[in-house]
Amino acid sequence: MRLAIGGCGSSRAAMPATLLARLPDLLLDHSLALLADPYRYISRRCRQAGVEAFETRLLGRRTICMSGPRAAQLFYDPQRFMREGAAPEALKSTLFGHGAVQGLDGAAHRRRKSLFMMLAAPAHAAELAAMVEAGWARRVAGWGPERVVLYRQAQMVLAEAVCAWAGVPLAGRDLPLRTGQLVSLFDEAAPNSWRHLRSRWRRHLAQRWAAGLIRAVRAGRLAVPARTDGSPRALALVAHATDAQGALLPERVAAVELLNVLRPTVAVSVYVVQALHALHHHPQWRQPLLAGDAVASECFMQEVRRFYPFFPAAVARTREDFDWGGVHFRAGQRVLLDLYGTNHDPSSWAQPHLFRPQRFLERMPGLFDFIPQGGGEAAHGHRCPGEGIALALMTASVRALAALEWSLPRQDLHIDMRRLPALPRSGFVICDVRPVRAAQPPVGAAHRAPGEGGTRYRPV
Ligand code: HEM
Repeated sequence: MRLAIGGCGSSRAAMPATLLARLPDLLLDHSLALLADPYRYISRRCRQAGVEAFETRLLGRRTICMSGPRAAQLFYDPQRFMREGAAPEALKSTLFGHGAVQGLDGAAHRRRKSLFMMLAAPAHAAELAAMVEAGWARRVAGWGPERVVLYRQAQMVLAEAVCAWAGVPLAGRDLPLRTGQLVSLFDEAAPNSWRHLRSRWRRHLAQRWAAGLIRAVRAGRLAVPARTDGSPRALALVAHATDAQGALLPERVAAVELLNVLRPTVAVSVYVVQALHALHHHPQWRQPLLAGDAVASECFMQEVRRFYPFFPAAVARTREDFDWGGVHFRAGQRVLLDLYGTNHDPSSWAQPHLFRPQRFLERMPGLFDFIPQGGGEAAHGHRCPGEGIALALMTASVRALAALEWSLPRQDLHIDMRRLPALPRSGFVICDVRPVRAAQPPVGAAHRAPGEGGTRYRPV
C-alpha cells in the first residue's frame, strides 16, 4: 500500500514516495508549522507534492490533511467519517464546548441538529437581521470625530441583537462583559499563545452564565415569550430540548448548545470587518450595496466568505480502514479538511487569489467547492446551519455602514494570516464618521489575496 507524501494515485501529478521520505512527517510533530501558517499549510504542502492528501504528525497524533473539492466530498461521507472524539481537547474547552452537536454522529446528531435548523429558518434570520440593523442605527448615532474600532463595535451590536433574539435577558451594563466572553471563545481559542488560557477561563464563565439561564427557564423563574408565530426562541428551545428517550438535555449540554447559537452569531463580526476591508479596496461596490441591489450584495458577501480566511480546517475521524488518493486511512485516525485552501483551489476557482464577486454570477458553487462554513447538506451532515444568518447579518451590517463616510487614521490594514481568525491587527479603526454625501467613483483594481503581497493601507 502506498501512502501520501509524494506518492498518490490522485488526479494530480504523482510523485515517487518512499518510507524514508515520509519519516520526517511521521516522526516529527508539525504543529508549529501549521500554527505558523494555519490557512496555507495544507494546500501549500499538497501543491508542493502534487497530492490531495498527505499524512503527518500534528498535536502528537498521526493526522491526514486533505484539500480540494474531491477531498471535501470524501470528508462529508458519514459512512467513512465520524465526529466523536475528533476535535482536539483544546478546541472542545474553548470554541465548541464539551458535549456539543459538533461531536455527535448518526441519529443523535440529526436530532440535535434539527434544533439549529429550526432556529436558523429564513424568517428567523430576517428577524435577527432587522434587529442588527436597528442596533447599528442606535450605535452609529453616537459616533462623531472620535475613533471607533469596528471589530469591537460589530461584536457589541451582534451580541446585543442575538441575545434579544434568543430570549436571553442582558442588562446594558453586562453587554461588554458577555460580549467579551463570547468573543474569546472564537477569537482566543487557538492554542498558540497565552490568550488560549483566557479563552478556557471565559468558556467556564460563559458556560456558568448559560447554565444559570437554562436552570431558570426550567424552574419557571425566567419566562421566554414565543414569537408571534408561536415558534420558541433559542433559549426556550434549547432549555426544553430532549434526547431520543425524552429526557431533557443535561444542563451543561443545553448551556453548550445555547452558546453554540450566541458565539457564532457574534463571530459574524469577523465577516463584517472583512467585508469592510473588501469595500475599502473595492469602493465601486458601495453604491450597489447601499441601494439594496440584492444580486450585487449576495455576490459581494459570498466572495467575502470565499476570499477571506476564517476557520482554516474542519476535523473528523475515520470509521474504518480504506485507501483514497494513494493514502491509507486507518480506522480512528484524525483527518483535517482544508477549508481555506478548498475555497482557493484553482480546479474550481479561476484566479482564486483575486477578489471578484462577479464570479458568483458566472457559476453556482457546488456543495463541496465553496466551504467556508463546511460542505455537504446542513440538515443531514455537519455543515454549518448558520450560513443564512451569517449572510443576512453581513448584509444588514454592511448596508448600515455603507451609508457612512469616515476617515481612516494611520493603521496597518494588512490581513494578518497568522491570526486566528485572520483580521487587520487594528480591528479596522475609523474616525470623523458622517453620513455619505455623494456616490463613490468606481475604482477598478482587483487586489491580491491577503498575506500574498496584499494591500497595506497608506493613510491620506
Ligand atoms: C461567522 C460565521 C460563521 C462561520 C465562519 C461558521 C463556520 C462553521 C464551520 C466551519 C462549521 C464546521 C463544519 C464542519 O465541521 O464540517 C460550523 C458548524 C456549526 N455552526 Fe457555524 N459558522 C458561522 C456562523 C454560525 C451561526 C450564525 C450559527 C448559529 C445559528 C452557527 C452554528 C453552527 C453549529 C451549531 C455548527 C455545528 C454543526 C454540526 O456539527 O452539525 N454558525 N460553522
